[in-house]
Amino acid sequence: MPIEIRDYRPADEQAWLRCRVLSFLGTAYFDDVTPAKQSPAIGAELVAVQGGAVVGILDFSMDGNLATIDTIGVHPDHQHQGVGTKLFEFARIRAAALGATTIDAYTRDDEATLRWYRARGFAESNHYLHVYANYYVNADEPGKAVEPRLGLFPIKIFLHADLVQEAEMRQEFQRVHVCRRFAQPIDVQ
Ligand SMILES: CC(C)(COP(=O)(O)OP(=O)(O)OC[C@H]1O[C@@H](n2cnc3c(N)ncnc32)[C@H](O)[C@@H]1OP(=O)(O)O)[C@@H](O)C(=O)NCCC(=O)NCCS
Repeated sequence: MPIEIRDYRPADEQAWLRCRVLSFLGTAYFDDVTPAKQSPAIGAELVAVQGGAVVGILDFSMDGNLATIDTIGVHPDHQHQGVGTKLFEFARIRAAALGATTIDAYTRDDEATLRWYRARGFAESNHYLHVYANYYVNADEPGKAVEPRLGLFPIKIFLHADLVQEAEMRQEFQRVHVCRRFAQPIDVQ
């Protein structure tokens, strides 16, 4: 069945949210769940539709000449069929039309996702750490991350840290991700 790339419509919201949750489920972003769709002030919201069903999503937002991919996801049953690449090619053309000279995205350390960005010609930079301190993983973790305020008991904390601290962070916290920027120039005429 052919895949159509088109602009998101408000009626797509539930399908969009489900596609996002399911595409992220097997990745380092498994718990990055949004219950309502946000729209970029300037940018594009694209969906890939097959047989009437939303099978892929891509949002990017513009900041000057920079287009940043805020969300890209393909439903797990439809991955590795070219949907993500089609969405990305469409986004590049749209971003160029909006005056973008660079397109970028930030992502964690899923090998398949990293391979996908590299194979699409993105270059990596700006590596840093995403650290989770979680009482339910180890009751000592929150205390290693923050000084609690009187009467408040930290349970789950999300922190950024410098990459040079990676070994130390991995020793102290169970969930640590290396986040990085992927970027490429836009040369679409
Ligand atoms: C990363 C992601 C968006 C890629 O989307 P996708 O639709 O699976 O990607 P594509 O099918 O376009 O490309 C994947 C591979 O399949 C191959 N492929 C493309 N069409 C194909 C086909 N018809 N048959 C078999 N393989 C195919 C491509 O060559 C590509 O391989 P390569 O990366 O080695 O070049 C998707 O896997 C995803 O949603 N991942 C989870 C969410 C996520 O990590 N999002 C990013 C967070 S920032």
